[in-house]
Amino acid sequence: MIEIKDLWYAYTEKDQALRGIDLTIHNEEWLAILGHNGSGKSTLSKLLVGLLEPTKGSIYYDGIELNEKSIGEIRKKVGIVFQNPDNQFVGVNVKYDVAFGLENRNIERTQMHELVTKWTKEVGMYDYLEREPNTLSGGQKQRVAIAGILALNQEVIILDEATSMLDPDGVKDITNLIVSLKNNYHKTIITITHDLDLAKLADRVIVLKDGQIIGDGLPEDIFKQRELLQSSNLDMPFKMRIYHEAMSDPILRQNKKLEEILWQYHLEK
Ligand SMILES: Nc1ncnc2c1ncn2[C@@H]1O[C@H](COP(=O)(O)OP(=O)(O)OP(=O)(O)O)[C@@H](O)[C@H]1O
Ligand SMILES: [Mg+2]
Repeated sequence: MIEIKDLWYAYTEKDQALRGIDLTIHNEEWLAILGHNGSGKSTLSKLLVGLLEPTKGSIYYDGIELNEKSIGEIRKKVGIVFQNPDNQFVGVNVKYDVAFGLENRNIERTQMHELVTKWTKEVGMYDYLEREPNTLSGGQKQRVAIAGILALNQEVIILDEATSMLDPDGVKDITNLIVSLKNNYHKTIITITHDLDLAKLADRVIVLKDGQIIGDGLPEDIFKQRELLQSSNLDMPFKMRIYHEAMSDPILRQNKKLEEILWQYHLEK
């Protein structure tokens, strides 16, 4: 369990990037964090992995406060795929990049080889093992970064806009992978995304605005609140917009059957 208590963060004296976040994330929960540009999502993720130190407040992993002393142990539990995959690529090629974290953990060679094979296959990058980063697209680098984190088998995985550079097929692949991580590997997953179609598959959604949580609930409850989505400047997928357009009409709104049909239609892939 991760407990975030009254968390504040300021990059500069006058700008508060996070303003009093209180949040508990349960084990094996898939939490989607939504919010417009600059709302504080990446800042929160960096605080969660100890890359930034809170201005005020604390984060606890299973009751242990994240601080200089505990960070080594906590980093074994939590992995992050950053928003920009270029900042994450450290190997000379795909194979070494995925192996890098394993090497740091002194994983034995045969097992390392097996893990690199398994996870590059899972993300569709097995055919690119020898490729150097400058020959890969942004989306391919994102996939490699995801493989590198998944190979480490941490309990908590944070994905910051991890599908932002992928084409629609790539988004589908990685979405399926996330669902499988949750169902088959019992991970706690935090996805930071602009993509409401991805967020609607999560167990729970929070909406950030100006460094504060303005919505927290089941995807269904959040996505039925049109004002909430609009006030946070989130782009609604086409089918969700149809639902909200119809429901903003006082006559159509009375038709419960229509509401149900449009809502179900929006849930279809
Ligand atoms: N290194 C930095 N120095 C100063 N201000 C920063 C820095 N990084 C972020 N900020 C500011 O902090 C606020 C939160 O930024 P953050 O990157 O957490 O937002 P975000 O929700 O991840 O946005 P995006 O959707 O664009 O990725 C913004 O106002 C941003 O301008
Ligand atoms: Mg960000």
